Amino acid sequence: NPDPTVAEYTLTADYGTTEIIKGISTDTLGYNGNILGPTIRSKNGEKIIIHVNNNLEDSTTVHWHGLIVPGEMDGGPHQIIKEGESWSPEFVLEQPALTAWYHPHLMGETATQVYQGLGGLWIHDDDISASLGLPEQYGVDDIPVIVQDRAFYKDGSLYYNSNMMEGAVGNIIMINGAVAPYTEVPSSWIRLRLLNGSNAAQHEINFSDGRKFYQIASDGGLMEYPVEMSSIKLAPGERAEILVDLQSMAEADSVSLMVSNIKSLELISDGTSTNEYVLTDHLVDIEKWSTDDIVNERSFDLEGMAHMVSINGERFDMDSLSFTLSTDTLEKWTVSNVSGSSGGMGMMGGGTEHSFHVHGLQFQVISRDGTLPPEGERGWKDTVFLKPGETVEILVKFTLEGIFMYHCHNLEHEDAGMMGQFQVV
Ligand code: C2O
Ligand code: CU
Ligand code: CU
Repeated sequence: NPDPTVAEYTLTADYGTTEIIKGISTDTLGYNGNILGPTIRSKNGEKIIIHVNNNLEDSTTVHWHGLIVPGEMDGGPHQIIKEGESWSPEFVLEQPALTAWYHPHLMGETATQVYQGLGGLWIHDDDISASLGLPEQYGVDDIPVIVQDRAFYKDGSLYYNSNMMEGAVGNIIMINGAVAPYTEVPSSWIRLRLLNGSNAAQHEINFSDGRKFYQIASDGGLMEYPVEMSSIKLAPGERAEILVDLQSMAEADSVSLMVSNIKSLELISDGTSTNEYVLTDHLVDIEKWSTDDIVNERSFDLEGMAHMVSINGERFDMDSLSFTLSTDTLEKWTVSNVSGSSGGMGMMGGGTEHSFHVHGLQFQVISRDGTLPPEGERGWKDTVFLKPGETVEILVKFTLEGIFMYHCHNLEHEDAGMMGQFQVV
């Protein structure tokens, strides 16, 4: 498209105060507001310009997690925006519709900046997703759900426990920056766009009445078909879109979304109907890469625990690249969580969980522990969870050039150096 439409957005990182817990005000950070940031909505093929202003008394960066953009626009640790300065990346997205997100990625301070409130959702649309009749009225039957755990002092200030063995984990669940909010919903099919934006904890998500729902999208977009389930686990950084049938709810009936067994978001029916969605057994076609076309293989051993974490024995160094590879080349990456299975760490309680995230693409998972991945992982992914001892094989193929990161999305692990970088040429 020689003359794409242009969409411009401004994100200003600044200080704020938020009533996260009723009646108490908490110092937070937000983009264009007190906590989190606006949901950015883009269309495939349109040109996007984002003006990021940094009003913090600290450097920051903003990374577009899940979006396929050139390395220089990726907002990783190299695209530093100093205090009082601005950065205006531009790109055209050419990728299937997805629920992505954006968050700081400053080396050594990603975890604390996210914890204090910096982050937001990014919804990308394309013609195929728009043609499926899915619930798509934002905030009505298509609802953003950013899940984050936090801990607080009695006075309401955020308690960031950096001494926790495996990252900051809180006992309070926030949904979109609020504790136990409710929202009115129609008596229709509802689409929830789930993001686990927590620093370190994996969360199990289900409904208070145990009702079934359907996962329709993984990190990188719609899956081939809806997968029925009654509970879903998301590691930090992972997203899923789910559909839940609320057609039989009468006005004022309610059901709650449970996050790690805590009632976290109440859905109260208003008795109206907003869509005529009919569940189908097909969503989109996904071209599966063939293992016959693999031209190179690499392995990534996730090792260690707490602050002693590494990938292939290395810690992040801003000045060194782990490897270089070419665009449009299919590689198989074998990712293993070896923490707990070597070095005597097993004594410490069975090892440490990690989640492996790659910038600059969406990948395909071909196996988990030697067998086919679960159905919810058979679509596009950019982050995978690994239990101690687990191995996941993924196929990668990059389309854009630049320097990109791979890292554990436990943000305390990432800040401790559980990250590496490579260059696509
Ligand atoms: Cu969500 Cu490298 O990050
Ligand atoms: Cu990312
Ligand atoms: Cu980790």
